[in-house]
Amino acid sequence: MSNVAQYDVVSIRNDFPILSREVHGRPLVYLDNAASSQRPRQVIDAVRGLYEHSYSNVHRGVHQLSQESSRLYEDARVAVRGFINASCVHEVVFTRGTTESINLVAQSYARPLLKAGDEILITHMEHHSNIVPWQMVCQQTGAVLKVVPISDAGELEMGRFNEMLSDRTRLVSVVHVSNALGTVNPVKTIIDAAHAKGIPVLVDGAQAVPHIGVDVQELNADFYVFSGHKLYGPTGVGVLYGKEKLLNAMPPYQGGGDMILSVSFEKTEYNTLPYKFEAGTPNIAGVIGLGAAIEYVRKIGLGAIAAHEHGLLEYATKQLKQIEGLRIIGEAGQKAGLISFVLDAVHPHDIGTFLDADGVAVRTGHHCAQPVMDRYGVPATARASFAMYNTFKEIDVLAEAIVKTIEMFG
Ligand code: ALA
Repeated sequence: MSNVAQYDVVSIRNDFPILSREVHGRPLVYLDNAASSQRPRQVIDAVRGLYEHSYSNVHRGVHQLSQESSRLYEDARVAVRGFINASCVHEVVFTRGTTESINLVAQSYARPLLKAGDEILITHMEHHSNIVPWQMVCQQTGAVLKVVPISDAGELEMGRFNEMLSDRTRLVSVVHVSNALGTVNPVKTIIDAAHAKGIPVLVDGAQAVPHIGVDVQELNADFYVFSGHKLYGPTGVGVLYGKEKLLNAMPPYQGGGDMILSVSFEKTEYNTLPYKFEAGTPNIAGVIGLGAAIEYVRKIGLGAIAAHEHGLLEYATKQLKQIEGLRIIGEAGQKAGLISFVLDAVHPHDIGTFLDADGVAVRTGHHCAQPVMDRYGVPATARASFAMYNTFKEIDVLAEAIVKTIEMFG
């Protein structure tokens, strides 16, 4: 395990078995980390170890295996609490991922509160997961969705944001780091401005937590949500952080096992936090794998990871800007490690196919952020997104593969 004073990318790469494979006879260059990152051996071992030694259902048995599984499951909650600095473990709810966390808040927090004419404020750079749940709750209640515009560089128009915070705004829901542009939003400023008007804020941190240290108490976020699979953990698991007072006041999202204290046909009593929101047998292995992923990230250190990825971003931006006919979409002053781009001569899907032939994995398409594509007048982009294990040499391979692609189409 690489716990390095100096950033040791070779040692980190050795922890990720998949990175040593080849694709089409070329070394894999994995630059699709914003869609999903890869898993270190420590996460794979934690999941395998659970199934080989301790697996049983959680919170349901006095027998040894159930006790062991329950302890590992709750240890992961403790790890998440520390990772985002929640004030207590019962503010950490395990969900299927960012999308489910946002839907939970839309249905359990917003829906009972909203009346016709109330407003939910989001931004033009949201992922569909932070648009559609609000459209649904607006349809259900007669509330109105308001959208803060973005500049040509891909930054939020903060003047417009402040103007759009109105006495009808009931919630602000904003992405921390844009998955399509890489923009890092000034969420602390946004939260402070909203709170000055008594408006709570949900932050979509799916693209932030793998790259930036997040302290939910310092941010004073009311809700903060993220997924495991972009954070080097398993798929199908994520987190809803919510302030205890808000979570306590919200009705359950789903009914079933684990979210009850007692059930009779006359009256059912709900469980306390966080179990009130964890109906049914949870993704036990996913949660435990997420705990291992967080431990891994913490050992390397988000400060060191962020510095490395920033170096990659600067280098890649410089390299790609030298390529004639390439346009970067999203040039905010504060960016996390991803570059969306289009080529004059080549459709993004063809870029993806040709880069793949050279072993380079990038995502092409609208990145589940179609309004962003519309804003910049493109149907799609190609997107290279970096993780802690990427190297400067891989950026060179990316740049060379792009030039080759342009030549083929030229
Ligand atoms: N939201 C993920 C992405 O940006 C899937 O690719």
